[in-house]
Amino acid sequence: MLAPSSQTKPSLDAEPDPLGHLLKMIREQGDIVRYRSGYGPVHLFNHPDHVQSIVQNTNFERTALLKMVTGDGLLASDGRRWQSQRRLLQPPFHEKCLHGFLPMIADATMGMLRRWEALPGATRSVDIGRETKRLTLEIILRVLFEKVSQDEVTRMADAANVVMQHLGELSDVVLNVPLVMDPGRETRFRAALGTIDALVAGLTARVSTGAGRTGGVVPTLLEARGKGLVTDQEVRDEIVTMIIAGHETTAIALAWTLYLLSRHPGTQTQLADEVDQELNPQVPTTEVLSRLGYMRMVFDEAMRLYPPVSMVVRQSQKDDTVGGVSIPAGALVVLSAYTTHRHPDFWSDPERFDPGRFHPDRSHGRHRYAYFPFLGGRHQCLGQGLVMLEAPVILALLTRYVRVTIPEGSVGRPLPGMALRVRSGFPATVDFRSALPPC
Ligand code: HEM
Repeated sequence: MLAPSSQTKPSLDAEPDPLGHLLKMIREQGDIVRYRSGYGPVHLFNHPDHVQSIVQNTNFERTALLKMVTGDGLLASDGRRWQSQRRLLQPPFHEKCLHGFLPMIADATMGMLRRWEALPGATRSVDIGRETKRLTLEIILRVLFEKVSQDEVTRMADAANVVMQHLGELSDVVLNVPLVMDPGRETRFRAALGTIDALVAGLTARVSTGAGRTGGVVPTLLEARGKGLVTDQEVRDEIVTMIIAGHETTAIALAWTLYLLSRHPGTQTQLADEVDQELNPQVPTTEVLSRLGYMRMVFDEAMRLYPPVSMVVRQSQKDDTVGGVSIPAGALVVLSAYTTHRHPDFWSDPERFDPGRFHPDRSHGRHRYAYFPFLGGRHQCLGQGLVMLEAPVILALLTRYVRVTIPEGSVGRPLPGMALRVRSGFPATVDFRSALPPC
């Protein structure tokens, strides 16, 4: 288990910019950067060739950090155990199974828009970070449990926030962000985890006593439990994994996309033209989504600049070598989509927001690991298909009905961690482009 050393937090002004610092070290030292972190020696590999070697090498396993939340669930496990879990849970994420969620995703998004419409004034103020997080949480809970009350979503959102904050702070130690001295942190974390467990137990019991629902993550797990293939604890671990892995990441991708659109009105208008032409008056269907090519490019480019999982950490199980550099057993290996997505050999003018980079004509021949928001290799994100259905539906409906403006200077620097976050939320204003249809 990784054990960080605690330090007193420096003043906010002195707060380091760890991702910016990583980029600086890469500029100075090249594609392989070695440094000492609060968890011991770290090797950061920035070149896509090295990313590929590492994700394909079973010597580089996950660290134990996530286990305190997700137990031995898919996101934290490795080796043979991981393999059998992945085999069990892959089928519910097949494209054909996911398409059935489209009306639910549209319904949840329209619910959020109706809440916004009920706010006072012509220009409504919302925190886009909080709103997208709540929406994606509702969606993953409905994917898992079908029916969930707004009160359950609220309680889960509050508890998940505490847990994610705690995990984020612990994982930031890899980048030498000092851990804040906070005696209440552990107590708050334990209480929040207790709330998540109680909610998951209640919701799972409802599914297990519900009438004959088959397929889907939870029914698949319950069936396996009935056959004695998995334990109660394993069912819990996989469900908590899906909740933790499956909402904040997508929310962050959506929030940064809206931020970039707000900063680039030309792109926003071009996207609105595409959506108005393809969506009006339809609701999103898979056929309509396949015609939203510009939206897909915008979303891909937003995840290039702000990959929701900004770094992935592995631990070497035995002495090894990558790119001619020796890695001793126990050393940490870091891959950062945030830095590789800015590699100047693979991306011209890398800081510029340019959705056209993802036009098929310009993507042809690009290194597979120059862009890896969902990683790759054996641990490639299980939820990628869901994200690429969910995010376009949400963005299409938001673009169709509202214009989101995020004021200049209101969004802080991105913070590293398991999921890229921002310091101060995303205060935004929302103007309705057209009235919502009656319920
Ligand atoms: C934009 C949204 C998302 C991004 C950028 C993302 C990214 C990633 C990344 C980088 C990993 C590899 C982590 C590692 O190995 O250390 C991963 C794994 C995983 N993700 Fe996602 N994810 C997203 C959404 C989702 C959703 C919606 C789900 C829903 C169920 C999900 C479920 C998982 C699971 C279960 C794994 C572990 C896969 C395995 O090791 O077999 N993710 N994701």
